[in-house]
Amino acid sequence: MDRIRITGGNPLNGHLTVSGAKNAALPLMISSLLTEEPLILNNVPRLADVLQLERILINHGVDIAVHGRKPADGDDSGQRMTFTAAEIVDTCAPYDLVSKMRASFWVIGPLLARMHEARVSLPGGCAIGTRPVDFFLYGLKQLGAEIDIDNGYVIAKAPPGGLVGGEVDLPRVSVGATHTIMMAATLARGKTVIRNAAMEPEIGNVAECLVAMGASISGIGTRTLVIEGVERLHGATVDVIPDRIEAGTFAMAVAMTGGDVLLRGARPEHLQAALDLVERAGATITREAGGLRVRRNGNGLQAVDVEVDTFPGFPTDLQAQFMSLMTRANGTSEIRETIFENRFMHVAELLRFGADIRVDGQLATVTGVPELRGAQVMATDLRASVSLVIAGLAASGETIVSRIYHLDRGFERLEEKLGRCGAKIERLAG
Ligand code: UD1
Repeated sequence: MDRIRITGGNPLNGHLTVSGAKNAALPLMISSLLTEEPLILNNVPRLADVLQLERILINHGVDIAVHGRKPADGDDSGQRMTFTAAEIVDTCAPYDLVSKMRASFWVIGPLLARMHEARVSLPGGCAIGTRPVDFFLYGLKQLGAEIDIDNGYVIAKAPPGGLVGGEVDLPRVSVGATHTIMMAATLARGKTVIRNAAMEPEIGNVAECLVAMGASISGIGTRTLVIEGVERLHGATVDVIPDRIEAGTFAMAVAMTGGDVLLRGARPEHLQAALDLVERAGATITREAGGLRVRRNGNGLQAVDVEVDTFPGFPTDLQAQFMSLMTRANGTSEIRETIFENRFMHVAELLRFGADIRVDGQLATVTGVPELRGAQVMATDLRASVSLVIAGLAASGETIVSRIYHLDRGFERLEEKLGRCGAKIERLAG
């Protein structure tokens, strides 16, 4: 297994291009199941999770083409890919494919809408909590589906003639359930209302894609989505939005190490809550043409409290990175996780750098220390892994991060991007 070696202590300077958002690319790819015509996606990141979803889609019968590089493409251009689900040959998503990534469960929505049946394994994914699928099943039932669970599989059947529009009041904001029910409702007969819908920018990206494919959706960017079902959807060409989590991660890395980095492509409106906190902690953030510039002059960081929330609040996917930052702040910071019940696994690893963190249920209390020292640490989940990289960049001496396959699931060429900004970071082949 590959590892990452970091020699800490160097500031970051230069520019980085933010890749396409993993959390948008995955549901956009899944949307291709809704039409027999080609869906072209620009700016798809090269990530293990994208490859994994490609395997699942291929199994359903989707033809996938990766377009070659064009002369105008820079080193940092994302992939242009075409997904054509001319014929769906299999409505089953098997355990060995779905168990590797939770988002693959979301195929249940489009399969059920277009093929009127689906058999999808219950999901796996990051070990950050139980992550049930009850909201998905409730939502699909509201659209008329009959649902059974058998042998670890969800077996869903639409009523004769297909799904019908319905009222879906989500008991709690769920990104995955919103994507899935929205996709399913595009081909249902009649009107669907999703209340308490997720408002994350990735939902907007997918909703706009569905509209470009011929769907009728209003309320995009609000807590209430209204979808008028249509008979069929057609092909479209859509850009994957820049990854706000990657942008926020880099902003925190610069705040941690000091330096001056332009994050090309970053959209401040997608991560305002996180930027506010990084600024309060001591970095200077300015909007510039084409991106965001993050600077810290090396003065001390300030402790800031944070409570994770759904968008537009501070994202759970940046909680581990922010905790890493707070390990070096002056004072004590309280970090409260509210979305997942087991998302503090990075704490034990951060302690190995000499951090001072206490955990009580969903609350972590971080008291800043004057220095972190390099350590051997292990990645435990996708976002936790990158918090260890950030700590390693700021720590004195050498850090080795093992089990970095978690990192490869969600961060494109991380060591290359950081290396170009002056970090001493390299991948060691396992
Ligand atoms: C998505 C993101 C993930 C992010 C999370 C929260 C992708 C590919 N993944 O995950 O990076 O951390 O949103 O912003 O976009 N829940 C239930 N029942 C359900 C569904 C969810 O209880 O049927 C709970 C979950 O366990 C969790 C909360 O609702 O506690 C929110 O989860 P959700 O928004 O669904 O997360 P994902 O879509 O899995």
